[in-house]
Amino acid sequence: MDAETTFRTRGGARLAATAAGEGDAAVVLVHGYPFDRRMWEPQIRALSPRARVLAVDLRGFGESESGDLPASMGTFADDVIAWMDGLDARRTLLAGLSMGGYVAFEIWRRAPSKIHALALLDTKPDADSPEARKGRVKQRETIGEAGMSAVVSGMLNAVLGATTRETRPEVVALVRRMILETPPRGAMDALDAMRARPDSTGDLAGIRVPVSVIVGAEDTITPPHLSEEMAARIPGARLLVLPKAGHVTALEAPELVNRALLDLVDALSE
Ligand code: MLT
Repeated sequence: MDAETTFRTRGGARLAATAAGEGDAAVVLVHGYPFDRRMWEPQIRALSPRARVLAVDLRGFGESESGDLPASMGTFADDVIAWMDGLDARRTLLAGLSMGGYVAFEIWRRAPSKIHALALLDTKPDADSPEARKGRVKQRETIGEAGMSAVVSGMLNAVLGATTRETRPEVVALVRRMILETPPRGAMDALDAMRARPDSTGDLAGIRVPVSVIVGAEDTITPPHLSEEMAARIPGARLLVLPKAGHVTALEAPELVNRALLDLVDALSE
């Protein structure tokens, strides 16, 4: 049974997550921008019979408050590490999609011994280019002035694959809802955090746990060639390019993502 769970973290922010399932293996799911833990609904359902699943709302997203700490990948990572400590699992699979992947890299740098398998979905290790940084500043201004409704249609076109946009109205509706319901303050803080994030490329060769790199064939934000390059740098990493899916593979190709994550859950017990 799914349970909503909350805890109050450093800086007094109340953070929310969904906890489901049982067992001594845990799966921790970290969403992308500007989404929340609802993007993992198919995975919560599929994985909870096999492991304890925790899908978090990063601070400022979904039902989690922003709190007073400066926005950074380090702040996000420390929050997720605190959740992981609370789970007290014997072994943990950490899965992050896009911005969730950036958070996963930061967790790896801070607490590698807490991660026993890693899924990197629709993400990349690079820091923002100067061009991308300018884009973050512009989007921050737009959101500050006009709210999430000013960015929703452009974002939907960018994050969802053409197949999903044409054939999966329920996925389009959920992603639209998540974007529109993201608190502007949370989105602006995350833009600052992503703009300032470090390059994680140098960390890839040192990742020594089972890793799956997953990407939608129709992902135009982090296109498949970036995942190929990333997977090639991680010893033993498996690369999965999922057909008919864009940047939000967890929702656009849920069965294939579930299968890939279940394989990593199996690897936790090897
Ligand atoms: C995400 O889905 O989290 C974003 O596309 C990440 C980014 O903007 O770099």
